Amino acid sequence: MAVKKKMLIITGGGDCPGLNCVIRAVVKSAHMKGGWEVWGSRRAFNGVLEDPPDVILLTPDMVSGIHVRGGTILKTVNKGGPFEYPVQHSDGSVTYDDVSDRLIQRIRDMGFDAVVSVGGNGSQTISLKLFEKGLPIVGVPKTIDNDLMATDFTFGFQTAVQIATEAIDKLVSTAESHNRVMIAEVMGRDAGWIALHAGIAAGADVILIPELPYQVGSLVRKIGSRIQDGEGFAIVVVAEGARPRDGKAVTQDQGSRYGGIGYYVADQLASHIKAEIRVTVLGHIQRGGLPIAFDRVLATEMGVKAFELADSAQFGKMVSYARNTLVTIPIADAVRELKRIAPDNYLIKTARYLGVSLGD
Ligand code: F6P
Repeated sequence: MAVKKKMLIITGGGDCPGLNCVIRAVVKSAHMKGGWEVWGSRRAFNGVLEDPPDVILLTPDMVSGIHVRGGTILKTVNKGGPFEYPVQHSDGSVTYDDVSDRLIQRIRDMGFDAVVSVGGNGSQTISLKLFEKGLPIVGVPKTIDNDLMATDFTFGFQTAVQIATEAIDKLVSTAESHNRVMIAEVMGRDAGWIALHAGIAAGADVILIPELPYQVGSLVRKIGSRIQDGEGFAIVVVAEGARPRDGKAVTQDQGSRYGGIGYYVADQLASHIKAEIRVTVLGHIQRGGLPIAFDRVLATEMGVKAFELADSAQFGKMVSYARNTLVTIPIADAVRELKRIAPDNYLIKTARYLGVSLGD
C-alpha cells in the first residue's frame, strides 16, 4: 500500500463559529482525494510541543456533523505561541521562549508534509514566521473581528454580527417601553466592523467605532433630539475599542484587552441626558454557538481550498474571500496591517445618510 502523506491542522487564537467547518472540510477533502492522512494538534501548536505530544488522527467519522458546532474540536489558545512559549523551570520560574526551531523539528520528525493553520492576525503572523523558517504551511483566516487584510470577510464575522444584531433588536423593545437610552458594547478589538454592521442592521441611532474617535457633545445632540420631554428612546452601539477624541480606550487586565467603554460612555452622558441609561456588554456571546449558514459555507469552502493549496505544495499562502469567490494570497499580504474601516467605506456613508451619529 502506498505511504500516505501527512497533513497537520491547528486552530489558534480566539475561537469563532466556523472553525469546525474548516476542520471537517480539510479532512473530507483529504479523504476524497486520497493519499493523505490529516492530524490535528490540540491547543494550536501546543499539542506538538507538549510531552507527550497531543496530536490526534482525524478520520471522516470523527468530523461527521461537527459543522454545526461552535468552537473548535481541536481546542485553541490565544496566548503564547512558538515564539513566546511559556517554559516552566525547575525553580518554578516561567520564561517565554522562542521554541520555533524545536516546533519545526518536531513537525518534521512526526513526518508531516504540510500544515494548515486556521487563525486570525496573531496566528497568521506566526504562520508567516514559521514559513520563513522553512515550515510548509498554509493559512485560513478566521476571526469575528473581520480585521484581516486581503480578505473581504473572515468566517465567524457574520455570525457575530447576527448575534449582536438580534441582541440589539431586543434592546429596542425594552428601550422603547421605558424611554431609555440603551448602550450595547460589542467586540471587534481595534476595528469597528461588528459595531458598524450590527448597528446599521439593528437601526441604531449612534454607532461608535475605533476608527472615528467620538465627541460627547455630538452624542448628546443626537440623543437629545431623540429624547424630548421625556419621550422617545435611543440605541447606542459602541465598539469595545472606541475612544473619545480627548481620551483613551477603556481596557481591562492591565491593558491586555478591551472592555468597559459602554459604561464609560454612559457616565459621560449621564449629566447631559434626562433619560435613564442602561448598558449591555455582549462579550463572548458574540463568539459562541453555532455558525450561521453564510459562515458555514465560507468556512467549508476555505477548508477545501486550504487542502488544495497544501496538496499542491503552495506554501506561504492564505485562502482569501474576495469579490464573492475564493482566491489565494501570500500570508504576508494578510498580516501587513490590520484591516480597519476606511473613512470612504460605503457603510460610513450609509450610516450618515440614515442620520446615524458616528460621534465625530
Ligand atoms: O479577536 C476576537 C476577540 O473576541 C475580540 O473581539 C476581543 O477583543 C477578544 O477576542 C477577547 O479576547 P479573550 O477571549 O481573550 O477575552
